[in-house]
Amino acid sequence: MIKALDGLREVSAILGEYGIEDSHKEAEIIFTRCIEMGKVALYRDNPALSPSQREEIRSILERRGKREPLQYIIGHVDFYGLKIHVGPGVLIPRPETELMAEEAIKAVTRYTLHVTSEDANSSRVTHYASRILDLCTGSGCLAVALAKEFPAAEVFGTDISEKALEYAMMNASINGIQNVTFLKGDLYEPVKGGTFDIIVSNPPYIRKEDIRTLEPEIREWEPLEALDGGEDGLQFYREILSCAPEYLVQGGSLIMELGQGEADDVLKIAENSGLGCAALVKDYSGIDRILRLSLR
Ligand SMILES: C[S@@+](CC[C@H](N)C(=O)[O-])C[C@H]1O[C@@H](n2cnc3c(N)ncnc32)[C@H](O)[C@@H]1O
Repeated sequence: MIKALDGLREVSAILGEYGIEDSHKEAEIIFTRCIEMGKVALYRDNPALSPSQREEIRSILERRGKREPLQYIIGHVDFYGLKIHVGPGVLIPRPETELMAEEAIKAVTRYTLHVTSEDANSSRVTHYASRILDLCTGSGCLAVALAKEFPAAEVFGTDISEKALEYAMMNASINGIQNVTFLKGDLYEPVKGGTFDIIVSNPPYIRKEDIRTLEPEIREWEPLEALDGGEDGLQFYREILSCAPEYLVQGGSLIMELGQGEADDVLKIAENSGLGCAALVKDYSGIDRILRLSLR
């Protein structure tokens, strides 16, 4: 009979040998999932592992040994209070992108207050039918979070990847969200002729030659088209910024996630875009992570 905490120590050591950082935390995630028990109960009750639980843990370990991301194995992540399904073919939403959701919610609220000229407590903020576009939507995490926050809004998410859009649609459905539409195509192309109050985007922003230096979980498992930002990492910012004035309403905002160290270059590109009022927001590590610009 193997007790859970003995198994946990063993799995944590094996994950460490695989070169996985935070092996103990991962082992806890694997055990709480397989035993279907919270962390407190796991440590308090230390149950014996059943043969099927041992088999499930063994199979997860085998996949982690090939450095498949734990999120793909478990099949979902928590994002801004939502359950977001992920798997091979779609980028795993990162914690810093939750900051994007926060900034976008603030921007929609600000814009709506401006349009409706009501005070901050007005229910008209949630009921104003804003139009929101999420370029490079991937799993749809941002689009779904915004659609949930603003039930009267019309939210659109575009992506070039069929697989990513399958996940995005599933994520809208499992979260009970109906005011979001996902469209396949190159950046703005699927919404040609439309205008939006807020455009958000977390585009691919890794420099091509840096991709091979990333952790195996990223470079060998996550889709290349979700990472590759071209030779200098800035290709998508150029394209998004050059068309933004055509797709934003007057006073509307563009909010983009930035790669580490890209803020100055993106601000330079933005100088000629016709957008102004730049605001940079740092992430929890102090990196300039989010850029907000508005069409004056
Ligand atoms: C960094 S991921 C962001 C995914 C998601 N928004 C998030 O924050 O987790 C970038 C996404 O851009 C998509 N993409 C790449 N090239 C594109 C293009 N030309 N037009 C639209 N989407 C594109 C990829 O398929 C990928 O899903």
